[in-house]
Amino acid sequence: MSQVDLITLTDPRSPVSEAYRTLRTNLEFLSLDHPLHSLLVTSPAVSSGKSTTLANLAVIMAEGGRKVILADGDLRRPALHEIFGVDNDVGLSDLIRSDSELETAALPLRESGVDGLRLLCSGQLPQNPSVLLGSGRMSQVVAALTAQADLVLFDAPPVIAVTDAALLAAQMDGTLLVIRAGSTQRQQVQRAKALLEKVNAHLVGAVLSNASLDSGVSSYYK
Ligand SMILES: Nc1ncnc2c1ncn2[C@@H]1O[C@H](COP(=O)(O)OP(=O)(O)O)[C@@H](O)[C@H]1O
Ligand SMILES: [Mg+2]
Repeated sequence: MSQVDLITLTDPRSPVSEAYRTLRTNLEFLSLDHPLHSLLVTSPAVSSGKSTTLANLAVIMAEGGRKVILADGDLRRPALHEIFGVDNDVGLSDLIRSDSELETAALPLRESGVDGLRLLCSGQLPQNPSVLLGSGRMSQVVAALTAQADLVLFDAPPVIAVTDAALLAAQMDGTLLVIRAGSTQRQQVQRAKALLEKVNAHLVGAVLSNASLDSGVSSYYK
């Protein structure tokens, strides 16, 4: 397991871990009427801290008693297998490409080392991620995953560069945007929001990563 990136495990009492608990509370609060069973995390541009934010959120959600599946929908630069230190020999891409029955036993889920949290890695990197993620088979995979957990969390590539995140967002109950303090530009945020609205994604809020702790702002919601 990557000790650096999973601060919620290595330092559960740190202010950063506390910020993840606040994020969990906010997500639960804003979805009281319509509980979120699937959530996508994306960002406008590259290296915003999406995978790190998502992995820590998944840990905190599982610690809150939810049965969580964390899936790597970034079929271009997958990271979850590295963060959790597990093999990535088989995963989401293989599941979409195969035509096997989507029974529980057939899902290539891995234990994460955290109670209640299982992983679906990216699997072999495909030539055509957008085609796979937009396929009818993909919606069946999402349905099979949501049937197996209280919450399915999906990682994704940045939303501006490629269509993958928008294709995924259209299939999720909610989408969370990760914005990196000091690097994501306002115009990029507006563009990302517009792209997500175009596919009727339900944008539930934004997380500010890389914020200095004394700024007093670690996450905010619309
Ligand atoms: N909040 C943060 N503060 C500082 N560095 C971070 C933060 N989140 C992630 N990083 C670092 O930034 C890099 C990119 O993070 P990652 O989560 O892989 O982003 P993305 O999935 O958006 O490409 C990694 O090296 C990670 O360790
Ligand atoms: Mg990533």
